[in-house]
Amino acid sequence: MSSSDEEGSGEEYLFKIVIIGDSAVGKSNLLSRYARNEFNAHSKATIGVEFQTQSTEIDGKEVKAQIWDTAGQERFRAVTSAYYRGAVGALIVYDITRKTTFESVGRWLDELKTHSDAAVAMMLVGNKCDLENIRSVSVEDGRSLAEAEGLFFMETSALDSTNVKKAFELVIQEIC
Ligand code: GTP
Ligand code: MG
Repeated sequence: MSSSDEEGSGEEYLFKIVIIGDSAVGKSNLLSRYARNEFNAHSKATIGVEFQTQSTEIDGKEVKAQIWDTAGQERFRAVTSAYYRGAVGALIVYDITRKTTFESVGRWLDELKTHSDAAVAMMLVGNKCDLENIRSVSVEDGRSLAEAEGLFFMETSALDSTNVKKAFELVIQEIC
């Protein structure tokens, strides 16, 4: 029992957040960096669905986010509708070094919008910003797409931790 339960002060919040985007953009590493401060340079493609629950404090309240991570590869994906059900936040991730992953964002957004509530808080994430030397999507292109689609936008690096906590917590904050 947490101290807040003992005090009877209150509510606990549990929010479901989903991470989507093409294979190998770094979804699983963003989650492991955020939830466990771990990075795996040789991570395997996700098969099915995994999730982690992470607590954070927003405006003095403890908030728990249940963050879901699935396969970017179609053949490894689980039932789509179940994945999105109940989600109140979403990170749509591309890899700034692979333009094709940026071009897929529209398709991921369509799927998200088909299967989730209109009110879902959405963040476009350009991951691997540590690889500036082989960048193929400009910050400006990322930002414009986000603006056009009404999404928050951030570039992140699961490798060096840039903006990872910020990206998740901005979405969580928006939900609260
Ligand atoms: P699927 O599970 O197949 O959908 O892939 P994923 O999106 O979960 O990608 P994953 O997290 O497994 O990362 C794919 C590869 O990119 C791995 O080799 C990671 O080490 C690497 N990677 C992930 N994030 C970063 C990053 O921020 N910078 C760099 N340089 N490499 C990264
Ligand atoms: Mg994965």
